[in-house]
Amino acid sequence: MSGEVVLADPMPPLFQQLAGDRFDVRPLENATEADRKATVGIVAYSHPIVDGSVMDSCPGLKVISNHGVGVDHIDVEAATQRRIPVGNTPGCLDASTADMTMALILSVARNVVVGDHFARGPEFTHYDPSILIGQEVTGSTLGIVGMGRIGAEVARRARAFNMKILYHNRSRRPETESELDVEYRSLKDLLAESDFVSLNCPLTDSTTGMIGPEELATMKGSGILINMARGPVVQTQALYDALTGGVIAAAGLDVTDPEPLPRDHPLLELKNVVIAPHLGSASNRTRQRMMQMTVDNLIAGLEGRPLPTGVNNSK
Ligand code: DGY
Repeated sequence: MSGEVVLADPMPPLFQQLAGDRFDVRPLENATEADRKATVGIVAYSHPIVDGSVMDSCPGLKVISNHGVGVDHIDVEAATQRRIPVGNTPGCLDASTADMTMALILSVARNVVVGDHFARGPEFTHYDPSILIGQEVTGSTLGIVGMGRIGAEVARRARAFNMKILYHNRSRRPETESELDVEYRSLKDLLAESDFVSLNCPLTDSTTGMIGPEELATMKGSGILINMARGPVVQTQALYDALTGGVIAAAGLDVTDPEPLPRDHPLLELKNVVIAPHLGSASNRTRQRMMQMTVDNLIAGLEGRPLPTGVNNSK
């Protein structure tokens, strides 16, 4: 095969459909020395670690294009030092990720998954109004941690559920406060006042391990934690302890730490947890747009143009 050599983790056919036959895509994992030497671009599809040593092993590397908005698996600083542009896919996945946030809130609060298992099993013999009584979402209080684009989309949806909406963010967002009628709180106050706490923040040094035993104990005993951010934002053992010790009522996790959890992890046994395999942006239209942005960034980087959505464009 001829074409510019790009290292990538296994990609769906959509990449080729959008990129044509311009690229010679070779496996990123265990790439041969010859492949690394020939490489001009890296496409990070399913969160491979791309650190300085990976970059240095590809002397001709011109661009790293990430399929997704979160770039915590890429050492952006190392790329910037090496003048390698890094692209991501912001914006196009806000709605689908917010949809999934609401899906988890509703699933956990209204026992959708437990109910599904029950309805398929032999115990379901007649309608019983006394079983699986959940928490009412409408009119309850939602605390959103991370009021970026995705957090704002969650707030828009929560308004339709007539929820009181609190938020916590590194910096206050006065415009969002007036546009969406959301109230700023310290993390502690947000945790204490919310019926549902939704994590929609990026994984950074300051959000790693942000939700631990103390934060969980600050939540209401009836509180429900939703993690749509990244697994390491929540301390896994602390979450397990809180869920089994009645410190909080339940959790909905689109992400975990580690991800995936080992198949025998005790968290997987709990009925008061709904776990999704990182589906935040997994909708047909969003996946199409993410891939288009990934390809656009890749091509721009190879042609020496600023990336349309570059993480380190101006650095
Ligand atoms: C994101 O956009 O960061 C999602 O986690 C998918 O990679």
